Amino acid sequence: MEMKYRKCGYSGIFLPEISLGLWHNFGNADDYINARSMMLAAWENGICHFDLANNYGPTPGSAEETFGKVMKEDLGRHRDEMFISSKAGHRMWPGVYGDGSSRKNLIASCDASLRRTGLEYFDVFYSHRYDGVTPIEETMQALIDIVRSGKALYAGISKYPPKEQQIAYDILKEAHVPCLLSQYRASIFDTQAINENFEKASENGSGIVVFSPLAQGLLTDKYLHGIPVNSRAANPNGFLQESDVTQEKIEAARKLNEIAKERGESLAAMAIAWLLADRRVTSVIVGASSVSQLQSNLKALGSSPFTDEEMITIASVTKGLIKES
Ligand SMILES: NC(=O)c1ccc[n+]([C@@H]2O[C@H](COP(=O)([O-])OP(=O)(O)OC[C@H]3O[C@@H](n4cnc5c(N)ncnc54)[C@H](OP(=O)(O)O)[C@@H]3O)[C@@H](O)[C@H]2O)c1
Repeated sequence: MEMKYRKCGYSGIFLPEISLGLWHNFGNADDYINARSMMLAAWENGICHFDLANNYGPTPGSAEETFGKVMKEDLGRHRDEMFISSKAGHRMWPGVYGDGSSRKNLIASCDASLRRTGLEYFDVFYSHRYDGVTPIEETMQALIDIVRSGKALYAGISKYPPKEQQIAYDILKEAHVPCLLSQYRASIFDTQAINENFEKASENGSGIVVFSPLAQGLLTDKYLHGIPVNSRAANPNGFLQESDVTQEKIEAARKLNEIAKERGESLAAMAIAWLLADRRVTSVIVGASSVSQLQSNLKALGSSPFTDEEMITIASVTKGLIKES
């Protein structure tokens, strides 16, 4: 399936419709050969955008080291053809400076992430979250200075609530370091950001990058017959808890799986295509634990457009499940 690229907000950047995230399965607790194979398969299939953060592992930081190793051994010569992001803002090291969105945390984190990946610069560096404590001016000034120092080409924000999202855009715009990307969680099971944040991002010329498009695996056929041992929900290091695999979600996934079958595709491909049907979305960042998962997710690129009836049926299946604030 040939990769398609979308223009990112009010900028000259294009991103692949499907990107690869290294949150799970790329740490030093994971199999390096498998991690390397997934990165290479992504690259060979036109995925030039890789999403990192300082804390991805486990252990925290080790996904960036894995990424750096693959760059050194395999992909480094393609650096200018790649778009690589990292972030800071979640707990990374002990003490009061290893968490949150302070200038101290962001600047030190960006330097450490560059060392771990062996890169000279990131294409985009994100504030991973609004921490509710640090003045937004401080966090944005740190991003502006990271960009001005050449450690990142662009600035981005992740998971900012609507009010703080707008303040962030305004500060960045005034400093002539506009927000290239806004990263939000969204899926058929989780439409809160679609309702609350997407329009604001678009109006402000920011591209939108969606994470956890498969609701961490729930929007696949993986959990339809229980929790498999080789799943994120069964993994003690996995962010998805067994308690998140509720009967209601499985029932909804079962119904969605039937709709996907009628469309002649997998539930995973349909879930990704559903997000890409929103033209405000620049790219959907998928996770994977194997090359075959990644390949099956790439089939979303060949999905047929949704009919109005399919959209209504999908909405009715998830009614009541959807997270609304
Ligand atoms: N900004 C933020 O705060 C933030 C937060 C979270 C994530 N992210 C970014 O978004 C990326 C993606 O998030 P995510 O990993 O939660 O995305 P996801 O695509 O919703 O979930 C990925 C997981 O689903 C399972 N899966 C994927 N494809 C499958 C298939 N075809 N069939 C069956 N199972 C399949 C795999 O888990 P198992 O096989 O292990 O069960 C895989 O690791 C992250 O890597 C990260 O870069 C950003």
